[in-house]
Amino acid sequence: MERFSRRDFLKLTVAALAVSSVSSLLTGCAADFDSRRLSHLQFSHGVASGDATQEAVILWTRAQPITAGVREVTLGWQMALDPAFKQLVRSGEVTTSAERDFTVKIDVQQLSPGLQYYYRFLGADTQSTIGKTRTLAAAQLSALKLAVFSCSNYPAGYFNVYREAALHPEIDAVIHLGDYIYEYAADGYATEKSVEIGRTFASDNAAEILSLDDYRKRYALYRTDAGLQQLHAAAPWYLVWDDHEIANDTWRNGAENHQSETEGDFLVRRMAAVRAYYEWLPIRPPQGEGSAQIYRSFDFGQLLSLHLLDTRIIARDEQLDYKNYFDAKTGQFASAKFQADIAADRSLMGQQQLNWLSDKLASSKCHWQLLGQQILMAKMHIPAELLGTKDYSQLPEKLKALAQVKLRVQQAQQNQQPVDATDLARVTQVMPYNLDAWDGYPREREQLYAIAKKLGKPLIVIAGDTHNAWYSHLVDQHQQQVGVEFATPSVSSPGLEHYLKVPPEQTDELAQAFSLLINDLQWCNLHQRGYMQLSVSAERIECEWRFIDNIFSEQYQVVATHKQVYPA
Ligand SMILES: [Fe+2]
Repeated sequence: MERFSRRDFLKLTVAALAVSSVSSLLTGCAADFDSRRLSHLQFSHGVASGDATQEAVILWTRAQPITAGVREVTLGWQMALDPAFKQLVRSGEVTTSAERDFTVKIDVQQLSPGLQYYYRFLGADTQSTIGKTRTLAAAQLSALKLAVFSCSNYPAGYFNVYREAALHPEIDAVIHLGDYIYEYAADGYATEKSVEIGRTFASDNAAEILSLDDYRKRYALYRTDAGLQQLHAAAPWYLVWDDHEIANDTWRNGAENHQSETEGDFLVRRMAAVRAYYEWLPIRPPQGEGSAQIYRSFDFGQLLSLHLLDTRIIARDEQLDYKNYFDAKTGQFASAKFQADIAADRSLMGQQQLNWLSDKLASSKCHWQLLGQQILMAKMHIPAELLGTKDYSQLPEKLKALAQVKLRVQQAQQNQQPVDATDLARVTQVMPYNLDAWDGYPREREQLYAIAKKLGKPLIVIAGDTHNAWYSHLVDQHQQQVGVEFATPSVSSPGLEHYLKVPPEQTDELAQAFSLLINDLQWCNLHQRGYMQLSVSAERIECEWRFIDNIFSEQYQVVATHKQVYPA
């Protein structure tokens, strides 16, 4: 396994910066290319575009040399108004090398706003597939369709969810909220069916990924999925990472799935992961590819501002862990200590990013403020008695029983009858169930809510990370609603149904129990893979969840949809 020292870490940083500046030299290049200079290439990983603005867009491909041992290659690229490339608007020549894994990123500038463009890359005797992209509208935009994704796990299943979205040309842009790859070994998380369905790792990438070479190979494998390639070619993407682009439950200086004693310096691993991510994805990081600062904003006409946030690696303090608050001998929960710790000034986005977001929200002239970020923001507080449950298979029965208690309490309250004190305590003594989400950082969440409330701008939040679909009201400590949250299910990673071990016919009942027991949760789906489509107009935002029935082969059907509209 290749390891990286601090010196290598610095070298990586410098190399990434150098590549970025090469890209910008090409900016706006109108010169054609000399086909005699082009290398013999294959384009096995498709094309992609992203971070489109009103006048610029990042184009991406990977140009592998046909001949082994070649370290540097030259290719041509073209951008046109038509798929036959008769109306060329830009073309140029670009060089890439093994230094950046033969990936190519071109930041094409001085384009016209609100236009659809086609692009392709050319080698000596091959050309890439043709991609379609679109610049952002300058001002008047009456309708917008955004497709939202997270959590695609290669060994867990086929990326049929991406494939399905690629069939919908009405989608203007794709937003990806992270877990684009997973770091685990071939026998790790969600790999139970990988051999059976033919989604295995090559022997040189079958261990948990740690080095730059490991991360690059993992991206290369994921990008062989046909559905993923199709969706990249269909529309511009706007991405942020979650934890698995680095390691499970990443925080600023570590991760649950990183053991420094055997896996080396976490910051070295993090830099390798960040570098591979920038190499493989069509992103324009605001401070260049040498910086992990990924948060950035885009205005879709004057209809919607998209603010992509980092809640993972820039500023996040280590997650609290319930395990540390249960007495090993007595099983007693140290409630006072937990309450004090969770209420402390703990960082998630960090003050610098929060200030940046505050300025962006204040200065935006757009009708809607959309926060694209990783983890659930809504309060997901469940009855405290559930937290001690060690055997997850007992949870469904406990949840259903508690839902009955809550119904009894609500009925008594509605009928102005006395409420049983024990019943009331069971459903009102609640605790957050996931301390890796915003629920583990309530103080900073209130700061953000206060900013939005002061500005009079409701927050439209989108989230991934959980692998299930959720719709919640965002409610502050004064019980005032400051916005809504739409959370997308995974593309292929297993959801809650996997842990609760519930047969599919019982999941709806369980979802209803969740929605009843969690005050701010309005609806959820706990068992299906899919994505969200946001249809935006000045009047409203409609979120449609689209679920498919199968990820274990490339045959699938859309089997269910659900809609929520804000304002209702
Ligand atoms: Fe995930």
